[in-house]
Amino acid sequence: MAQLWGGRFTKETDELVKKFNDSLPFDRRLYEQDIRGSAAHAAMLGKQGILSEEETEKIIEGLGSIKADLESGTLQFSDGYEDIHSFVEANLIERIGEAGKKLHTGRSRNDQVAVDMKLYVRDQIRETDDLLKHFLTTILTVMEENLDTYMPGFTHLQKAQPVTLAHHFGAYFEMFRRDRERMASILARCDTCPLGSGALAGTTYPLDRDFTAKELGFIRPSRNSMDGVSDRDYLIEFLGALSICQMHLSRFAEEMILWNSNEYRFVELDDAFSTGSSIMPQKKNPDIAELVRGKTGRVYGALTALLTTMKGIPLAYNKDMQEDKELSFDAIDTVKSCLRLFDGCVASMRFRKDVMAASARNGFTNATDAADYLVGKGVPFRDAHGIVGALVLHCIDAGCALDDLSLEEFRSFSDRFEEDIFDAISLKTCVEKRLTKGAPGRKAMEAEVKEARAYLDEQSFRP
Ligand code: ARG
Repeated sequence: MAQLWGGRFTKETDELVKKFNDSLPFDRRLYEQDIRGSAAHAAMLGKQGILSEEETEKIIEGLGSIKADLESGTLQFSDGYEDIHSFVEANLIERIGEAGKKLHTGRSRNDQVAVDMKLYVRDQIRETDDLLKHFLTTILTVMEENLDTYMPGFTHLQKAQPVTLAHHFGAYFEMFRRDRERMASILARCDTCPLGSGALAGTTYPLDRDFTAKELGFIRPSRNSMDGVSDRDYLIEFLGALSICQMHLSRFAEEMILWNSNEYRFVELDDAFSTGSSIMPQKKNPDIAELVRGKTGRVYGALTALLTTMKGIPLAYNKDMQEDKELSFDAIDTVKSCLRLFDGCVASMRFRKDVMAASARNGFTNATDAADYLVGKGVPFRDAHGIVGALVLHCIDAGCALDDLSLEEFRSFSDRFEEDIFDAISLKTCVEKRLTKGAPGRKAMEAEVKEARAYLDEQSFRP
C-alpha cells in the first residue's frame, strides 16, 4: 500500500492524475532530511510519553536502516509511492510493523515537507558557502601573484586608467565575499522549525516543539503554525542570493571570454577547460565560461517562477507549493556546478602579463595622469584636461602614445611640461601613485590582499 490515504475514497486514482500529482521522482532527494526530521519527531513523541520507549526505539532504528539501505543501494526508490514521505513511512511499516504506523502521530505532511525543505536549504547554503570560499581562495591566489601585473582598466569597454590584475580580480573577490555574507544572513533567518505545526492548526497532542527544533539544529519552533506550513520565504531568499551569485559568475565569465578572445589575448584558457570546433581546426572555444553565462537564465527563472507561484496562494498549505522543488533543485545544482567549474577555469588559466601591460601602454590610460601632472605645475584642472585632450588627438593622428612624444612636442602644447613628464606618465608611476584605500597601487593593494587572506583564514565565519 503505497498511499497514505484512501479510507474516504471509493475509486482508484486515475493513472494520469497519479502521475501529475506524485512528487517522488524529484523529492526523493530529500530522503536524508525526511528521515532526520522523522527521527526527531519520534524521539519527541517518546519523550512525551505519546509513544512507548520500545516503539520509539523501533522507529528510530527502522528509519536508520532505511537510510543505510538507500545509501548502500540495497533499497531503491520505486514507482508507485506518492512522495518521499509516503515512501519512507510505507517502508518503515514494512520493516517494523505496527509501531511504524504510529510515526505520523501529531504530524502532517504539510509540516513534514516544510521541515524537510528547510533542512535541505540549510544544508545547501552551507555547501554553497564552501564552494564560494574555495573560489575566493582561487581569486585571492591570483591577486597575490599579480600585484605588479599592469593592465588597462575599462569604462564603457574603453581603456580608461591603468590598474593591476590583482586590483581587477579584487573587485570579484568583493562580489563573492558579499555572496557569502548574503548566504550567512539567510541561514541566520532560516532558524525556526515548522515541525509541530501539523496540517495548519497545530495538534492536540502535547508535543514538545522546542525539543524537535533543537534536535534538528534550529534555534526555536516557528511562532505561528499557519505560517509554519506555508512559508517559503527562506527558499525565495536563497534563490535570490543564488541569482545574485550567478549574476556575478556570469559577469566574470563574460570578461574571461573577452580576455580569451583573439582581440584581447589577456588570458589563455587551459586545454582542459576549453573545447574545439568540429569544422575549424584552429578553434579553442571558451564553452565552459559561455555555459556559466548562459545558465544564468534558468537560475533567474527559478526565482521568478517561485515568486509567481507563491503570490496568489491563500493560507495555509496548498499543493501549488510542491512546485517549489524541481525549480529550486535545478537552480541550486546549476549554481553549485558553475561555481565548481568556473573556479577550475580561473585556477588553470594563463595570464599574459606582457599583453596586458602593452595594452595598458597603448590606450592613453595615462592621459589623466598627464593632466594631473600639469595641475601639479599650477595649471587649473579644466585647462589641463583641454591641453592633454589636444595632445591625445595629436598622438592619434601620429599613431603614437603620449610616452613616445619628445619634450619639444609636449612643450608645443604647454610650456609647463618638463623632463619629469616622462616619469610622471610611465605605467609604473600611474599605478603606483594610486594609493587611496581600495586603489590599485601596490601599497594599497598589499593591505587589501592581507585583509582578504585573514578573512579567508577566519574559520568562524562559516555560517
Ligand atoms: N509533496 C508535497 C509537497 O511537496 C508534500 C506535502 C503534501 N501535503 C498534502 N497535504 N498533500 O508539497
